[in-house]
Amino acid sequence: MPFRFMAGRAESDLIEGRRGIHSGTSPPVQSGSARQWDLLHADALRALFENAVDGLVVLSAGGDVIQFNRAARRLLGGSRLSLTERLRGIPLAAGSSQTVEAEPGGAACEVRAAPTSIGGEKVWLLSVHDVTALRRTEQERESGRQEALDASRIKGEILNLVAHEFRSPLSVIGGYLSMMAEGQLGEVPPMWALPIERTQQKVEELKAMVNDVLTAARLESGRLQVNRQLLDAGLLVKLAAERAKGRVALLEADLQYEVSDEALPVNVDSHQLGIVLDNLVNNALNYSDGKPELRLTTCRTGDEAEISVCDHGPGVAPELQETIFERFQRGGGQGEPRRRGIGLGLAIARDLAELNGGRLRLAWSELGRGSRFTLRLPLAG
Ligand SMILES: Nc1ncnc2c1ncn2[C@@H]1O[C@H](COP(=O)(O)OP(=O)(O)O)[C@@H](O)[C@H]1O
Ligand SMILES: [Mg+2]
Repeated sequence: MPFRFMAGRAESDLIEGRRGIHSGTSPPVQSGSARQWDLLHADALRALFENAVDGLVVLSAGGDVIQFNRAARRLLGGSRLSLTERLRGIPLAAGSSQTVEAEPGGAACEVRAAPTSIGGEKVWLLSVHDVTALRRTEQERESGRQEALDASRIKGEILNLVAHEFRSPLSVIGGYLSMMAEGQLGEVPPMWALPIERTQQKVEELKAMVNDVLTAARLESGRLQVNRQLLDAGLLVKLAAERAKGRVALLEADLQYEVSDEALPVNVDSHQLGIVLDNLVNNALNYSDGKPELRLTTCRTGDEAEISVCDHGPGVAPELQETIFERFQRGGGQGEPRRRGIGLGLAIARDLAELNGGRLRLAWSELGRGSRFTLRLPLAG
């Protein structure tokens, strides 16, 4: 006789073990008050069953719908027939779960099965949980993430393409300018010397921007390989100072460097670390008014080598000290519009430092007094 919610005696047998609590086999002899409790419990159980937030469906061992509550009716359709239809094919195994749609495009419900026995009869208790909102949020999150990824990929591809296309004309222009400056194309009238020099500078600025864009695009797509080699942190500093010589002379800057006597071996990509230091040095040169003063030093801190780039430039306002490391973020200080830049330098520098196992930060800065950027790299060996 299948289980039913019925008034009276049978209700006390609703829950497995109800009879067996006392004896395990034969029903206990019940006092009047115990029977009252049973009836009370049966009422409470019926109310709990009927009003549970999740849908509850009781299936016979053969899969026929025996009983269901209000939430199950609401989620999966009103009648025993529609419920049987919706629940057809639900795997009846302990802990199994399946998502069921009430109707195409309707509520999505997760149905979980649990074996139990009621009144001695083996049945399946199915819980029906509405996962529509959860699913929608997940879908929205996934599609948002996908859109952001697509946008970022497209942006990266465009930047990459444009930068590549800029590169070759720029080297042709730069090449001819050098030939002109060196007199290889005939004697240069004295009046042309300055315009040629300025044009050469602009070509170099443009090349630097194009390189920044290319590096940023490669970093973003994860296409940048790290070719490590063992070298001394002091050498990185010396090479950076050497590369900056031309600009230092042009700006009549004062660049000093002091490297630690102690060996500071690091296992890094010297080209990438060169880009990091060039960005720091160029910023110090770019943003200092008058004749820039900068100082490069190395020292050991714990098991890391530290390279510092200090300047006596305008400093960075406290609220901008982190944002200047973000892509396309510029400080916006006075006079900056005159200084070419697209706000990629520090973002690239930080990414490259991290790609090499290091970290880059603005260790100190005060408006009107200067800044100190530090690059820390793990010591090798
Ligand atoms: N040494 C420095 N002194 C003062 N401000 C700096 C210094 N270095 C960087 N900044 C600020 O950080 C901003 C971001 O720098 P960066 O990422 O190199 O981009 P960009 O130089 O193209 O603006 C700069 O626009 C500038 O405002
Ligand atoms: Mg810069």
